[in-house]
Amino acid sequence: MRTRIGIIGAGPAGLLLAWLLQRRGIESVVLERRSREHCERRVRAGVLEQGTVDTLAEAGLGERLAAEGHVHHGIELRFGGAGHRIPFEELVPGRAITVYGQQEVVKDLIKANLDAGVDIRFEVEDVAIEDFEDRPRLTFGGERLDCDFIAGCDGFHGIARAAVPQDRVRIFEKAYPFAWLGVLADVRPSASELVYSASERGFSLHSMRSDTVSRFYLQVPPETKAEDWTHEAIWAELKARHETVPGFTLDTDGPITAVDVAVMRSFVAEPMRFGRLFLAGDAAHIVPPTGAKGLNLAVADIRVLARALGEYYASGSEDLLDRYTEICLHRVWRAQHFSWWMTNLLHAFADADAYDRRLQRSNLEYVVRSRAQATALAENYVGLPYSTDE
Ligand code: FAD
Ligand code: DHB
Repeated sequence: MRTRIGIIGAGPAGLLLAWLLQRRGIESVVLERRSREHCERRVRAGVLEQGTVDTLAEAGLGERLAAEGHVHHGIELRFGGAGHRIPFEELVPGRAITVYGQQEVVKDLIKANLDAGVDIRFEVEDVAIEDFEDRPRLTFGGERLDCDFIAGCDGFHGIARAAVPQDRVRIFEKAYPFAWLGVLADVRPSASELVYSASERGFSLHSMRSDTVSRFYLQVPPETKAEDWTHEAIWAELKARHETVPGFTLDTDGPITAVDVAVMRSFVAEPMRFGRLFLAGDAAHIVPPTGAKGLNLAVADIRVLARALGEYYASGSEDLLDRYTEICLHRVWRAQHFSWWMTNLLHAFADADAYDRRLQRSNLEYVVRSRAQATALAENYVGLPYSTDE
């Protein structure tokens, strides 16, 4: 079998690449290890930057997003017994975030691709990469797919990055001494915007998916398992960390429908291109979720890769392909810094001493008192505008 672009992984990165390529008339095949149902049900991120929303809309994928996504013009930072709103409409006029679950983006992308005749193979076993320098090919389940290029969009634990000899990849990483317990509940959101709450008990986030579904996260010890927490204990801890301002009551009147644990990690692999193999999204970089950047970074990588491949097939020019790593890494490192900064700003660190805690409080107060600092948070959170190369 032969195709132009062999794509490993049907997450947001791989699916968006397949979709943007088919709109340019470039054939691809997507190989995914899990079932379609599994990909569509995986609960993960929920915050789409302005640029991500615009990208999806421009690509003809904006209809359900516009109808069902919720546009938010601010977030709340809650600490020291008070809530402080970061008003995007004042600080970054015209830019906002949209709350729309990642699995909804994935559903939209799978449907659009399949309707357009894109070849997505689910439940494919033992995908392997051969000769990514000259004559790239993918083998899987006894079959062989020859390609012009391979896109490794197979997430942090995928095989694409691992296929590159270690001495050709430089890894930058940081681990955090906590994880996030993610909770989905059929409960009306208790706030109209996201609440990032820093307390001595640890960080907690109140997000939402719709008028009847709430999404929460709790900072927990790194070795935590979802089954360590009873639903009663989850509600009690969410109340303790959120009911810290006068008059706020957390609505807990409904079932918890999913509990998961997300590891907190910062990670960048450089470069993002090896011969005819390109890494995109979580396969190349991971951020702790505090800044809600992971999915948005994957979309930004794919914008560049789709354009670069489009230019190559239209004119034979490899200029953009050659600059793929350099273009992507500007945004990647900005998001790395912002995600690390938000994580340090809001979490309780077990090894922090009294001095560290005072510094953290000063930093929080500075963010909500200084327009300059609040604007810095806001412009990163809603997403910096794309450069001309993105
Ligand atoms: P992925 O979504 O990971 O997609 C990779 C795909 O490749 C998957 O479908 C996988 O099954 C497939 N695959 C892997 N290996 C192979 C193989 N060998 N062969 C074939 N297919 C393979 N971000 C936030 O902003 N907020 C959050 O709350 C948040 N929570 C998260 C929770 C978890 C548990 C994880 C893992 C990530 C979370 N993220 C969050 C990050 C965000 O979801 C990711 O940045 C985003 O999914 C990246 O998209 P991707 O397409 O690059 O990778
Ligand atoms: C969500 C996830 C995040 O990591 C974040 O910072 C904000 C919201 C969410 O899943 O809704």
